[in-house]
Amino acid sequence: MEDQPLQTRELFKEFVVPTYGRFDVQLERGEGAHVWDESGKRYLDFGAGIAVTSVGHSHPRLAAAVFAQMQRLVHTSNLYQTRLQGQLAERLVGCVGAPGKIFFCNSGAEANEALYKLARKFGNEALPPPPRHSAGMLVEAPISRHGMITMEGSFHGRTLGGIAATGQDKVKKGFEPILPGFQHVPFNDLPALLAAVQDPNTVAILLEPIQGEIGIRPATPEFLRHARDLCDRHQLLLFFDEVQCGLGRTGDWCAWKSILGTDEILPDGVSWAKGIAGGVPMGAVWIRNRPVQLKSGKETVLSDLLGPGSHGTTFGGTPLVCAAGLEVIRIIEDEGLLENAQIQGALALDSLRRIGSPLIREVRGVGLMLAFELAGDLATRLPEGRLPSIHVVEALHAEGLLTVPSGPRAVRWLPPLNVTASQISEATEITAKVLAHCA
Ligand SMILES: Cc1ncc(COP(=O)(O)O)c(C=O)c1O
Repeated sequence: MEDQPLQTRELFKEFVVPTYGRFDVQLERGEGAHVWDESGKRYLDFGAGIAVTSVGHSHPRLAAAVFAQMQRLVHTSNLYQTRLQGQLAERLVGCVGAPGKIFFCNSGAEANEALYKLARKFGNEALPPPPRHSAGMLVEAPISRHGMITMEGSFHGRTLGGIAATGQDKVKKGFEPILPGFQHVPFNDLPALLAAVQDPNTVAILLEPIQGEIGIRPATPEFLRHARDLCDRHQLLLFFDEVQCGLGRTGDWCAWKSILGTDEILPDGVSWAKGIAGGVPMGAVWIRNRPVQLKSGKETVLSDLLGPGSHGTTFGGTPLVCAAGLEVIRIIEDEGLLENAQIQGALALDSLRRIGSPLIREVRGVGLMLAFELAGDLATRLPEGRLPSIHVVEALHAEGLLTVPSGPRAVRWLPPLNVTASQISEATEITAKVLAHCA
């Protein structure tokens, strides 16, 4: 008898490195806000690949743009120029709305790596700030600065730099020694940030305007203003990691503008990935055209500091991914998806709050980046070691709704930006039913 081909779960067990705690779900195709598994079961996808498929699955315009580019030119090299990379850079600078330049890469972790390297270059080559008074003493900045301040509870990716920057011990465990130079402060804690920048080695602050992996925690407007003010006063760089929250998810191209309600603050660098090309792998950073005085006596701008030979990646900004990125921006504009994210986001927040389950402790969110936090008592009713977020996410799977766990107790809703009111109402009904069953 001939050997039967292995099932998907068996292929994974045998041949795929088990870095992820994967669910026992084998997905095969998607359309709009829906995906189907190998058995033909349909799910409403409120995870969108963890905030990635921003215009939904298999959007006909995105598919056509990628297909057409595939037939024209997939890859060149960054030894050459392609119009698509230049055009996408122009559009992304337009999304920030302030003069700057773009570096293209392949993922969120890699986008943040570019920011760490930019901070190092700035700390090594820019003129250090003048001595300042701190606790009654005159403190001189070292001739080269490399200290980065990041937030407790943050997530910045899985590279060695990313785990050093991330403010969660669990990602560092087993990978010691951790890259030095990163200091974590409690998120939204103004005095703690003020105290941390007193270290004269500090060169940059990196924060997520909305922390994603810890259960959707927005920065307060005061914290963002305070960070900008401290950076201005101490000649530090302010970086926003908008890998998860950026490019439309909050109903604005820039999540920090959704929080502030204005564009009063401009960071010095922004990292993006996830939704940027609708699921085609891409990362990017925006770097501000801010004047920089170099120790050499020359003047430059921050966006030119990473000069030829200083940084790069083979696949960064290839014609194929840039065609996808450009089409995603056009779709978001043509279909009014920033406005849709605001309207449906408000509806989703309200709908989750109205469920009124004793198992929901809190609902948080901005635009279509939402989470509900489960009450403590659920954990006491589950077998030891079973995380409440995983338990609820799996119960939602059984009812045909995909969501994303976030830490032990939060469940995220991150639907595509073109989600409809009726899909939100369907997701709410399923969530209410599952929670009623768990209660
Ligand atoms: C805020 C944030 N930064 C960085 C990353 C890392 O992105 P990637 O997985 O594309 O490397 C993530 C991924 O979840 C993220 O949420």
